Amino acid sequence: MIYVYPIIHSLDVDTLEYAERVAIHVSDSGTITQVEYLDAGSEVEVGREGEEVVYANDDEFLVPGLVDTHAHAPQFTNIGYGFNLELLDWLNEVTFPTEASYRDAAIAEADFKRVVDATLSVGTTTCSYYSSLHLDATKILARVCHSRGQRALVGKVNMDSNSPDYYRDASAEESLQQTIEYVEYVRNTLQSTLVHPVITPRFAICCSSELLHKLGQYIQQQDVHVQTHLSENKGEIDFTMSLYPDDASYTHIYANRGILTSKSILAHCCHLSKQEVELVRQFNSGISHCPTSNFNLRSGITDVNELLSNGLHKIGLGSDCSGGYEVGILQSLRTASTASKALSIMHSTPSYLSLDRLFYLATLGGARVLSLDNTIGNFRVGKQFDALVINPYTAANKTLFQSVKPVNAQREHKTHKLQRDFERWLFAGTSANIQKVFVDGKQVV
Ligand code: GUN
Ligand code: FE
Repeated sequence: MIYVYPIIHSLDVDTLEYAERVAIHVSDSGTITQVEYLDAGSEVEVGREGEEVVYANDDEFLVPGLVDTHAHAPQFTNIGYGFNLELLDWLNEVTFPTEASYRDAAIAEADFKRVVDATLSVGTTTCSYYSSLHLDATKILARVCHSRGQRALVGKVNMDSNSPDYYRDASAEESLQQTIEYVEYVRNTLQSTLVHPVITPRFAICCSSELLHKLGQYIQQQDVHVQTHLSENKGEIDFTMSLYPDDASYTHIYANRGILTSKSILAHCCHLSKQEVELVRQFNSGISHCPTSNFNLRSGITDVNELLSNGLHKIGLGSDCSGGYEVGILQSLRTASTASKALSIMHSTPSYLSLDRLFYLATLGGARVLSLDNTIGNFRVGKQFDALVINPYTAANKTLFQSVKPVNAQREHKTHKLQRDFERWLFAGTSANIQKVFVDGKQVV
C-alpha cells in the first residue's frame, strides 16, 4: 500500500516535521519501506505492479498513532469518579474493590474488549496496561489486545503487602510464579508481534522487599519490560520511606532491587530529588508523565519541560485511567500543556511545553519510554505503520473550524494551514476527527 498524505511527525524532542505531500510505502507486514517527499500535484512512482495507492481527502492529514505509557485496564469502569480523595485513600476506597472484581473471567472478557475498543477509537495505537493481580484476567487482556490489533504491553499486577485481604497475592513466591507463568504464556502461547509482557510491581508500598528482589532478579535474567509507580504523592512517599528506612530514597528502593533498567517505565515522578533524577538517567529508565491524574488526585506537578531541557528525553504521556478521567492521550497532552503553563506562571519563568514537545511526548517520546522507538513513534523507514488519519473539519468541529477566521491576518499569512489545522485538532478536536486508525499497517478502526 502507498499512502499519499500531508504528514506531521516528531523527528526529535524539538523537531516536528510538517510535510505537505508524502508517499508512505507500507509492506504487507506493515513496515514502512519508503518515504517519498513529493511536489504538489506530482504523481507517485508506483513501486510494484498493482500496488494500491490511497490519496488523502481534502483537509485530511496523517499523524503517528498515539502512545499511552500508563493505563489501568480494570479501572476504566471507575472513570471520572472518586476525585475527592488523595492517592492512598482513593486506592483503598475506590480502586482496589473494583480491581478485585476481575477475579471473574467473564467480567474481564467483557470489560477488556470495551477498554481496548475505546482506546483504539481515540487513537491509542500503543498502550502500556496494568491488568489486575489475577493471572486469568491478565491473560485475557493480552489476548484481547492481540485479537483487536492494539500494540500493547500488558502486566499482571504484583502486590503482596499493605493490600486488603480480599485483594493481594498470597505470597511473594506465588506472585513471582504467576508472573513467570504469565510471561511464558505471552511469549510461547500467544506469540503476538503486538503484545509484550511487562513485569508490574504495583508500587513499593504494596510490595515486600522480598517480592521486589525476586522480580528484580527475574527482570535482569529475562530482559523484560517493567512498570511501576514512583514518587507520586507526598503521603505516599512518607509511608514508603517508613517501610524502607534503609534506602536512600524512593528511587533507590527500586534501583537497589533490580527494578530500574533501560526497560523500566516509571509513572508520575512528581517529587523526585535531583539525585533521584540522576539515578533515573543513569539507568536510562523512562518516565510516564500523567498530568490529569496528578491534578485529580492532587498529587503534584511534574516539571517535564525542565527534565526535557536537562537532556532527559525518555519521557511520554500516560492517561493513568482512572486516576486520569480520560480514555486517550489527547486529553493528557492538553493537561500536560496546562500543567507546564501553571508552573511557568507560579515560577515566573517564560518557558513551558511547546507544541513540538507536547506532540513528541504523545508519540516518539512514548515510544522511547516503552523501548519501542525502533518500531514506532514516527514515519521513519523501517518502522511499523501505526497511524491516524485526521480530518479536523468533520462532525463536531465542522461549523466551528470553518466559521472561525484567524483573528490576525498577519499570523495567518505566516502560518501554514496544515500547522494551524494540526494545532487546532490537538487542542480543540475530538475523537470524531479521527477518520481511521492503523496499527502494524492494518486498519483497526
Ligand atoms: N499507585 C499505586 N497504584 C496506583 C494506581 O492504581 N493509580 C495511581 N495513580 N497510582 C497508584
Ligand atoms: Fe497509575
